[in-house]
Amino acid sequence: MTQRTAFITGASTGIGSELARQLAAKGYQLALVARRRQLLEELAAELAAPGRVIKVYQADVVNWDEIKKAVEDAQRDLGPIDLLIANAGVSINSPVKAYDVARARQVYEVNVIGLMQTIAAALPDLIARKRGHIVGISSLASYMSIPRTYAYCASKTAARAHLDGLRLELIPYGIKVTTVCPGFIRTPMTEKNPFSMPMIMDLDKAVRIIVQGLEAGKEDIAFPKPLLAALKVLGWLPRSLQKQVLRGLSPGKRPGKRPASVPS
Ligand SMILES: NC(=O)c1ccc[n+]([C@@H]2O[C@H](COP(=O)([O-])OP(=O)(O)OC[C@H]3O[C@@H](n4cnc5c(N)ncnc54)[C@H](OP(=O)(O)O)[C@@H]3O)[C@@H](O)[C@H]2O)c1
Repeated sequence: MTQRTAFITGASTGIGSELARQLAAKGYQLALVARRRQLLEELAAELAAPGRVIKVYQADVVNWDEIKKAVEDAQRDLGPIDLLIANAGVSINSPVKAYDVARARQVYEVNVIGLMQTIAAALPDLIARKRGHIVGISSLASYMSIPRTYAYCASKTAARAHLDGLRLELIPYGIKVTTVCPGFIRTPMTEKNPFSMPMIMDLDKAVRIIVQGLEAGKEDIAFPKPLLAALKVLGWLPRSLQKQVLRGLSPGKRPGKRPASVPS
């Protein structure tokens, strides 16, 4: 049987590295992509097993030449990509007193342009073969923009909208598109968050939910469900009520407690 190939950006830590572990266990051969080569090589060594092919490609998803080359090298080394996971992402905590367009630009470049460039590099081959599965990691933060994380929320909303439109256009080509919207997960990204994170999940459990959803062919994988439901209800509230709830999440509104936030 031909082995399936997964190409994962942001595979050096967190969700990407755990996706690599769980997909390797399911028999995928892997192309691991990120900027920190050393971490990718350590992961490849950890996952090495007889008959398992794992390749490492150092690339910055914001750099078109680098991500295009990573995709081409992976296709040459491993054959056609079956599962393309655009996972690389960054977050910032951006209080309004430090309103910082340069940092927001970096977030948009990685989370939106980086995702698009990853897809763009692989798309011609997927379309030519009329098969494949594109997966983009958005966030539950895409459902509600809130104080201090608005740049990140906006980038994840853009990613989700992008994937939703792409899904429709790719139907005639037989290419599946899945949007993943996780809540808080324990990774290096959330380690640095200075606020409390409701319903935060362990990494292995969260990635099991993602992998099960991908195997079931789901178009949307959003979890945990109670947090998704709460954000949707918040979205339906009149703006005046929404404001009251969201202002309650602002720093200084809960003396002695770190304010809660929406998912990274
Ligand atoms: N953790 C959460 O609670 C949560 C919730 C919802 C969504 N997400 C999303 O899930 C994805 C993974 O996040 P995580 O929590 O696993 O965070 P993480 O541990 O910080 O991992 C981020 C990954 O992205 C890579 N990356 C960042 N910028 C890159 C660039 N310019 N080019 C290539 N790779 C780049 C990093 O690798 P290098 O630094 O080595 O390049 C790293 O492997 C992100 O898109 C994030 O927004 C996370």
